[in-house]
Amino acid sequence: MPENNVISKHEALNQWVEQVKELCQPDNVHWCDGSEEENASLCELMVQSETFIRLNPEKRPNSFLCRSDPRDVARVEDRTFICSLDEADAGPMNNWAEPKAMHGTLNGLFNGCMKGRTLYVIPFSMGPIGSPISQIGVELSDSPYVVVNMRIMTRIGAKVLDVLGEDGFFVPCLHSVGQPLAEGQEDVSWPCNPDNRYIVHFPEERSIFSFGSGYGGNALLGKKCLALRIASCMARDEGWLAEHMLILGVKSPAGETTYVSAAFPSACGKTNFAMLIPPDEMSDWKISTIGDDIAWIKPGADGRLYAINPEAGFFGVAPGTSYDTNPNAMDSMLENAIFTNVALTDDGDVWWEEMTEEPPAHLIDWLGNDWTPDCGRVAAHPNSRFTAPAAQCPTIDPAWEDPRGVPISAFIFGGRRMHDVPLVYQAYNWAHGVYLGATMGSEMTAAAEGQLGAMRSDPMAMLPFCGYHMGDYLNHWLKLGKTLTGQPRIFHVNWFRKNEEGKFLWPGYGQNMRVLKWIVERSLDRAGASETPIGWVPSISDMELRGLDMTEEQWDELMAVDPKRLMQQTLSHEELFMKLSDRLPKELIFERQSLVCRL
Ligand code: OXD
Ligand code: MN
Repeated sequence: MPENNVISKHEALNQWVEQVKELCQPDNVHWCDGSEEENASLCELMVQSETFIRLNPEKRPNSFLCRSDPRDVARVEDRTFICSLDEADAGPMNNWAEPKAMHGTLNGLFNGCMKGRTLYVIPFSMGPIGSPISQIGVELSDSPYVVVNMRIMTRIGAKVLDVLGEDGFFVPCLHSVGQPLAEGQEDVSWPCNPDNRYIVHFPEERSIFSFGSGYGGNALLGKKCLALRIASCMARDEGWLAEHMLILGVKSPAGETTYVSAAFPSACGKTNFAMLIPPDEMSDWKISTIGDDIAWIKPGADGRLYAINPEAGFFGVAPGTSYDTNPNAMDSMLENAIFTNVALTDDGDVWWEEMTEEPPAHLIDWLGNDWTPDCGRVAAHPNSRFTAPAAQCPTIDPAWEDPRGVPISAFIFGGRRMHDVPLVYQAYNWAHGVYLGATMGSEMTAAAEGQLGAMRSDPMAMLPFCGYHMGDYLNHWLKLGKTLTGQPRIFHVNWFRKNEEGKFLWPGYGQNMRVLKWIVERSLDRAGASETPIGWVPSISDMELRGLDMTEEQWDELMAVDPKRLMQQTLSHEELFMKLSDRLPKELIFERQSLVCRL
């Protein structure tokens, strides 16, 4: 590791590092400066330890493939805890443990857990360094994989310490792969401790502990742990929103940019939507990207909401990403990228399912085995990922690092729903929109361990990410809305509806621009709509469908609402409402009653 002169003047931080050093007993401590040299030397270290495979520099400069332990491939929601002082504050949708007892458990686990390893001190900023909206965290981790990923996903290094000064606030984040090395013991390429995983948040302390996993959201603690679970608590206390939302800009042919923010459950195509390319018929419209996963949204002095992307990179799901589905994501990862659990081609590049129409004749799969198209196995894990710098995205918005954020005109909620839910509709008002967000659901994907395809209710796509009681969270949304004079309009979309033969009714991807156009124009009061029991909906004449071979019958099928089935669904929200009953806002019960009456 190159020597550096990173020196923290922050007494509390220095003391904490000393305490962790004493507890975890690493062989070395390295304070990260975030430099190119440091990154290069960590990547080389991981090539030597066979954690990383350097990809062909002619095809994919400065990029690496990593294969995790096959038992450590996704977020572990059943091992994720919110340890609020009062159990009731964690709510019925989070795992709770008594904070003191959990600290005891963690102390036991972390005791000596870094023997034989280096402890990396990673000061990081979520949001542009020095912006009043940004938050600083410091992750202490024994994983060099975490350091190089955090360097892409956040802003790390000495300049963060400068902002922190002698007494600035930071969120302490302690991470260990949980596999100490005995004297002379050889390491494995992906150390982890799958039987003993803990992803723990202490909301009142604003602190995070993660043990036993090296993967994604379990280990890159700035992302789901800080920017959502802890930040959602900060947002509740301080009057803002920390959301599982992408942010994009829509530039009209007249040159006017309107920003929207959209919440979809994990692996529902948020990255694709954030970077979409309009179809040829709408090439005079342009999409720009602010972020693909998380939004921090604050009220401005003018009564509008302003959003920033606290992240600096994309940690996207690889399978399904291609030059057909998302050329901008493909271009973002042309260099300086890390690929985890994808397949390796014979010429030293990467491949995953649907990246190309024809799979290569031979690959090494994500488990390191020979793979051929007829072998009957997938080449890449369904939750395999690319880590790529946001600045490399061709559609990155010029304002993506503007510390003031961008004004939000619309919120979009959506899920993966094969049946019943129409392509798009607009809420009547803020409270109705919050009801739509609260009752949204999706068929499960591979981003978290769980039953694939099962329907799960996922309020505002925050089910695994809200750091407090979901009833309080919905109340916070309702209360915040009342303070705004420029409330964004709220919409619900579903790109995934299928017909009886199981064929998608909507082409999705770039064609979603047609829906976005309607949404943006509705937000500016410039598009038509019809009033229906579920909300405002576009008729076929309100939509730009030129060039799309869609008949009126097909449109009707896509937008159809079966009142009986909708009534059933509405009544089935009772389950969610019962769960939240002690803190469920009355407005939402009223919204549900109104919908039942309209039906
Ligand atoms: C993600 C997720 O990785 O939501 O973004 O799981
Ligand atoms: Mn996500």
